[in-house]
Amino acid sequence: MILRAVDLFKSYKVPGGRVRAVRGISLDLEKGKTLAIVGESGCGKSTLARVLVGLEAPDSGTLEKASLIPMVFQDSLGSLHPRRTVLQLICEPLVIRDGLLRPSEAHELRAKDLARQVGLAIESLTSLPHELSGGQRQRVNIARALALDPDVILLDEPVSALDVSIQAQILNLLLELQVSRGLSIIFISHDLSVVRHIAHDVLVLYLGSVLESGPASEVLSRPSHPYTQALLASDPSRSRRPGQLVLKDEPPSPLEVLPGCSFAARCPYVEAVCRLEKPVLKNVGRKAVACFPVQRGLQVGYEPTPNLS
Ligand SMILES: Nc1ncnc2c1ncn2[C@@H]1O[C@H](COP(=O)(O)OP(=O)(O)O)[C@@H](O)[C@H]1O
Ligand SMILES: [Mg+2]
Repeated sequence: MILRAVDLFKSYKVPGGRVRAVRGISLDLEKGKTLAIVGESGCGKSTLARVLVGLEAPDSGTLEKASLIPMVFQDSLGSLHPRRTVLQLICEPLVIRDGLLRPSEAHELRAKDLARQVGLAIESLTSLPHELSGGQRQRVNIARALALDPDVILLDEPVSALDVSIQAQILNLLLELQVSRGLSIIFISHDLSVVRHIAHDVLVLYLGSVLESGPASEVLSRPSHPYTQALLASDPSRSRRPGQLVLKDEPPSPLEVLPGCSFAARCPYVEAVCRLEKPVLKNVGRKAVACFPVQRGLQVGYEPTPNLS
């Protein structure tokens, strides 16, 4: 295990109360594997990300990790100084580590090698961030994340702002880097069609807690939790079929503390117990699922479409 989190909580004080963004999340990341964290906007993915990499401290819970975890963000321009060249930008983590003011020759050699590994052409080394495409800028961000040879990197919606064809190129790059370096990856996305390409394991978040987790093949082709099913059914890359669950309404406010299952208000399978008691994750086959009806053996109706692997 290269990273283990146990029962993480993180809340923010806001006018009118406290946003409980992360509510008791545990996870394990295995060496050389990709763990995808999925869920609708606002479910706590980025908060969890900031806690996992150490940008924010959790309110409670424990985190075991070997070393620093660099992070790549959705906004490819945000972390790139607008007047530095690609070469300077990739050198930056090395320069900071060594406490220097400018790159050494060794730094530049290393940066050129990193640029090659992430598929940046030599000509782009002298470019400024705004002269690059979004996809090229994410390559620069990935090169910077790799500069200090981390065991783990975390990417928060790294391809969500890119065209679909460019998305595939970046995902393929991550797959290559994973194999060549034995890299472990935490990949955050609201987009299940993206996650399908690279995840080994998937964690489905809803209102700050995990509703379902397990091997990607299981979670994405045989989802057990009604929420995961609804999320998959709302994936625009898949054809909708009659009888499939559709997500209606918004999730409840993260300021509210509901006694039962956080999905109860939107769940077509809701039972009395679901509104009274909070289900905890329990093993159901090869997955862990927090849902009373599913834990009791209810197969909530989802049939994988034939074109699904
Ligand atoms: N710094 C913050 N201060 C107050 N509320 C926050 C802060 N960061 C996130 N939140 C709230 O926490 C919840 C989870 O947000 P976030 O982690 O960004 O979700 P996601 O990345 O899944 O969209 C949201 O309700 C959001 O408004
Ligand atoms: Mg986010």
